[in-house]
Amino acid sequence: MATQNVTVIGLQWGDEGKGKVVDALAPSCRYVVRYCGGANAGHTVTVDGERFAMHLIPCGILNKGVMNVVANGVAFDPAVAIEEIQALRRRGFAVGPENLLISAAAHLAMPWHKQADRLSEEALGGGRIGTTGRGIGPCYGDKANRSTAIRVGELLDAERVAGRIEHITELKNRAFQALYGAAPLDGRDIAQQAGQWSAELSSMIGDSGSLLRRAIQQGRRILFEGGQGSMLDVDHGTYPFVTSSSVTACGVPVGAGVPPKAVGTVLGVIKCYSSRVGQGPFPTEQNNAIGDLIRQRGNEYGTTTGRPRRCGWFDALAVRYAVELSGVDELALSLLMDGPGRLETFRICVGYRLNNRMVEQLPQAARRYVDRLEQLLDRPVGLISVGLGRRQTILHHTHVPGLDLAVR
Ligand code: IMP
Repeated sequence: MATQNVTVIGLQWGDEGKGKVVDALAPSCRYVVRYCGGANAGHTVTVDGERFAMHLIPCGILNKGVMNVVANGVAFDPAVAIEEIQALRRRGFAVGPENLLISAAAHLAMPWHKQADRLSEEALGGGRIGTTGRGIGPCYGDKANRSTAIRVGELLDAERVAGRIEHITELKNRAFQALYGAAPLDGRDIAQQAGQWSAELSSMIGDSGSLLRRAIQQGRRILFEGGQGSMLDVDHGTYPFVTSSSVTACGVPVGAGVPPKAVGTVLGVIKCYSSRVGQGPFPTEQNNAIGDLIRQRGNEYGTTTGRPRRCGWFDALAVRYAVELSGVDELALSLLMDGPGRLETFRICVGYRLNNRMVEQLPQAARRYVDRLEQLLDRPVGLISVGLGRRQTILHHTHVPGLDLAVR
């Protein structure tokens, strides 16, 4: 099965600039699909100077003629989604069944998941994961647990889901009280909110897997939009300091309900330095004036939580691992000149041994820097982002079909 599909993933710890790359590719695709994560993601796109921070709705929504899919692998927070849909409508974007489909098999991120996330992090103290507080881990935990999970499709039967919500809230309250002495959540109130979610979202809920498989048979082009970054993958990242879903290209078939061959060209997004939010290992971290400078120039503050990101040098080992894991075909290099690319000296980590770290001077021409990255990572850099605007994208060594038409 030859495919013209594209999968866009982050190769670091998230915040690589995937949103912009997806926005550049979306006009040449019929479908844009989120297959992992939830409202923990924050994909930023700038259109004509206007900034859009998308958490749950695929970035393709900013392009006419694109069908956007929130697939089964997503932890779907209905309150955040409705807020996002309404904000888009206020800014003149049409959002409805004609351009958004939410999988009935996606799991609902519920208020008790956020409560569990918060209580668990507080209890862990210094050993905390540093989550975004969006209830992601507890939601996927319930998915695996099954009996206490609710799927999006259940919103189609408002009466039945209200009963389940009251029952599950009672179970959760008992656990929260016993474990943390926490005040109970109001199950009736949550059930009422769910009534509003049903009214707002029902027309957009459906079977996304069969839609995508049909699209593949018809030769329609699909873009799979990854969330987070490969080093945060639940199986392959820096466990336990990771998120709770499969965010690499390996997660696409399961998370979207498509055959593995549908993944298509894998485009890995990197920025020319590293950043990480939350706790966990970060070998190239610059917890000093250099890190502060990178943060300042790269505006490295969380899109979802506003937290200052930890910053450091580019880690070629970590990225090479992510390249191998997802079978990355091409790289999209972002933030080359609009952010810390203007630092006079640049370092690249090529090994982890203490006192034996090789460093690179930034070549006078950024071109040499790109050449070096291609050499180190053994993949062509397909795209280079040199600014926030849509036009500030350079096509470099790309082989993605149709991309020249898409980049304006
Ligand atoms: P969670 O996904 O909220 O459970 O957070 C787990 C870890 O993943 C934390 O270190 C978060 O900061 C990180 N994380 C989750 N989503 C993102 C993202 O979209 N960008 C960057 N870091 C993320």
